[in-house]
Amino acid sequence: MQTIHLASDHAGFQLKQRLVAFLAHKGYRVEDEGTHSEESCDYPVYAHKLCQAVVKDQGLGILICGTGIGVSMAANRHADIRAALCTCELQARLARQHNNANVLCLGARITGEELAMSIVGAFLEASFEGGRHQRRIDML
Ligand code: RB5
Repeated sequence: MQTIHLASDHAGFQLKQRLVAFLAHKGYRVEDEGTHSEESCDYPVYAHKLCQAVVKDQGLGILICGTGIGVSMAANRHADIRAALCTCELQARLARQHNNANVLCLGARITGEELAMSIVGAFLEASFEGGRHQRRIDML
């Protein structure tokens, strides 16, 4: 089973805590990469830390900031990361099926906790379809 790495800044801290508990309860192997409080911090620090861990163990990642935009910008600077900012289940499913996304980005000030859990479920349950989608990923 792939490890699911989670990280956030202060704005995403509460949602991250909720998702860590949700995923651990579902039996996933979870690594919490921080932040560990609501004290103000810089989202690139945690985005880069998470991306390094995801690349190292070929796992999956979930990144959270206020909007999800900052962490997705930071994550997509990494050559082996395909980060998708999702606000609905369909985006999350297709991000895995078509884009082979390995990091899901969420905005804690945009997406409520219940919807976030559904989005995470859709992301983790879907798998990459390969074929023509691999050709397109190779062109990124
Ligand atoms: C923090 O206030 C906020 O700017 C950050 O969480 C994020 O939304 C940046 O994209």
